[in-house]
Amino acid sequence: MEPRKCRLLFWGFGLMNQLALGISVLAKPMASADIVAVIDRNSARKGKRVGYVIAGNETAASWFGGGQPKGALPESVADLVIGDPADAANVIRQTKPDIIMLATRAFIKEIEGQLSVCIDCGVDVICIAEELLFPWECDVPETAAKLEEKAKAKGVRILGTGFNDTGWCIPAQTVAGMMINMSRIEASITWDCRDYGRAVSEYQGVTLTPDEFQTQIVEPSLTAPSVDSPAVYSIARGLSLTPAEGTLRHEFSPVLAKTRLYSSALGAWVEPGRVKGCTVRCIVDTHEGVTVVCESVGFIFGEDPSLTEGEDVTVTAWGDVPEKMVLKGKDVKGRVLTCTPMVNRIPQLLAQEPGWVTPDMLAPPPYLAKGVPKIVLDGTGIRRAAK
Ligand SMILES: *[C@@H]1O[C@H](CO)[C@@H](O)[C@H](O)[C@H]1NC(C)=O
Ligand SMILES: *[C@@H]1O[C@H](CO)[C@@H](O)[C@H](O)[C@H]1NC(C)=O
Ligand SMILES: *[C@@H]1O[C@H](CO)[C@@H](O)[C@H](O)[C@H]1NC(C)=O
Repeated sequence: MEPRKCRLLFWGFGLMNQLALGISVLAKPMASADIVAVIDRNSARKGKRVGYVIAGNETAASWFGGGQPKGALPESVADLVIGDPADAANVIRQTKPDIIMLATRAFIKEIEGQLSVCIDCGVDVICIAEELLFPWECDVPETAAKLEEKAKAKGVRILGTGFNDTGWCIPAQTVAGMMINMSRIEASITWDCRDYGRAVSEYQGVTLTPDEFQTQIVEPSLTAPSVDSPAVYSIARGLSLTPAEGTLRHEFSPVLAKTRLYSSALGAWVEPGRVKGCTVRCIVDTHEGVTVVCESVGFIFGEDPSLTEGEDVTVTAWGDVPEKMVLKGKDVKGRVLTCTPMVNRIPQLLAQEPGWVTPDMLAPPPYLAKGVPKIVLDGTGIRRAAK
């Protein structure tokens, strides 16, 4: 077979996949993939043209530059009509994608059906669901095991990535690689609640009193599945560490407003002394004596002049030599960085064997100096990158 352009289908067309699509067609020299279909169940998007949806979204539109996103997209992409996921199997059979870019929900139990359709159709998947960073320790282990078995039987690879991959897992490997006798490694991100919608602000406890925070946020969260624990496991395995059974734990602490602050997401004021956000720490101990911590600090910015836009990411390791090692990212563009590894990891996905593919198994995402590679089939019918 002659090498041909990589064919991509986007499943879910919220902001993340709008950016990922833009990156894969527009960012030179990556204009090297074909977009064959887009599907989304949201009635604000289903049945509309891709160009129309992107032009109508301020955040995506500004990324596309100059307020003319429609003009910047090739007509063949702008004119694609967004299909219905209820009809996904047919769309996949007709449009024959090589890779499905899946950006819908965070947990395996929410995307099980979507993954099943992709696997049944024999198509590889790149997905930003947090739980796919470490599917072996998820909320529904039997479901994950069944999906993995089916993927292996069908020759399908499922890669979990996103900002947890590039913001936490990869920098943790860089920092740990400079240490000897490490005792603890912490990956932390500080982000602004105003960059997200209502659900996120509610989850962060914005406007609650400290007592309400305890009963409404902390107590229910202790028994709910966590979006942060897969990253902790992925960091541990990437460092060849073995988590000690029963040591995974979460710590919550409210961040209180000092002045009166406005929550645009909730359309409400946060009075001084009330919750403006919170810190969630997910911690695991390992048999090798290293404690691994992921910390997510999300609140309404505005009181600290050093916090303006984007996210601050810090990875810190403690040990004997050196005693402390810190890697810092300031004003990082988290939304864009959630999507770039979806595209940049395509060549790495194509090199893997069927089953789950997680960041701890891979080198950092490569820079695609020559664009998204063309596709060839190997002797067993698996898609590979053309040389
Ligand atoms: C536009 O972007 C926002 C994030 O700013 C996202 O939540 C929303 O789903 C997008 N709207 C459409 C119609 O795609
Ligand atoms: C990882 O994902 C979790 C859940 O969405 C989020 O709280 C955390 O901020 C993410 N970490 C990074 C570095 O983006
Ligand atoms: C590493 O830790 C071991 C055990 O605690 C200790 O014997 C050794 O001296 C340490 N090595 C360095 C380089 O600090």
